[in-house]
Amino acid sequence: MRDYKEFMSEILIDEGTLQKRVADLGAEISRDYQGKNPVLICILRGGMVFLVDLMRHITVPHQMDFMAIASYGLGARASAGNVRLTLDLQTDIHGRDVLLVEDIVDSGNTLAYVLEFLQTRQPRSLKVCALLDKEERREIAVPIHYRGFVIPDKYVFGYGLDLDEYYRNLPFVAIVDLEKYQPPLS
Ligand code: IMP
Ligand code: MG
Repeated sequence: MRDYKEFMSEILIDEGTLQKRVADLGAEISRDYQGKNPVLICILRGGMVFLVDLMRHITVPHQMDFMAIASYGLGARASAGNVRLTLDLQTDIHGRDVLLVEDIVDSGNTLAYVLEFLQTRQPRSLKVCALLDKEERREIAVPIHYRGFVIPDKYVFGYGLDLDEYYRNLPFVAIVDLEKYQPPLS
């Protein structure tokens, strides 16, 4: 795999800015969930890096769980609205305070599907924390109660977000130069 510097156009959100915002979101969530024991739910795999950083700033006792979905669309995007559950939760969320932790909301189709699915299990409350919001690409209205950053309509990678499953480890969010990036052959 090539070094990301060969196709990165710029760093959009640097490590310090990300960590500061994640800490602030964690503090806000801790205040709002005072006296409660929420379940944080992460949709694999993009939200994982954000979740593990965020939960270390959440001071109320909480649990975490994972679910996975597959989307059929063009490339990595779920914009066709065809989303299917591939991994279910291990936790019974009936009557629980659920906080869905997402890496990025683009068209909103993924989030809309997941919220509808989670609602059928009758949680006591259901809120959304999303690190990145590509607001101008929204196709379906979705609630975002805690939002890290509004970003422009550019394809980004790093801090959990991938390019063909690579580069999730980078501690910053960067914009890819799509003229220079070529997907791996295998
Ligand atoms: P939506 O259903 O269109 O809102 O798409 C959300 C999903 O698409 C995210 O959870 C990501 O997996 C993926 N996605 C959207 N934009 C980007 C991006 O810029 N970089 C990496 N993944 C993205
Ligand atoms: Mg995702």
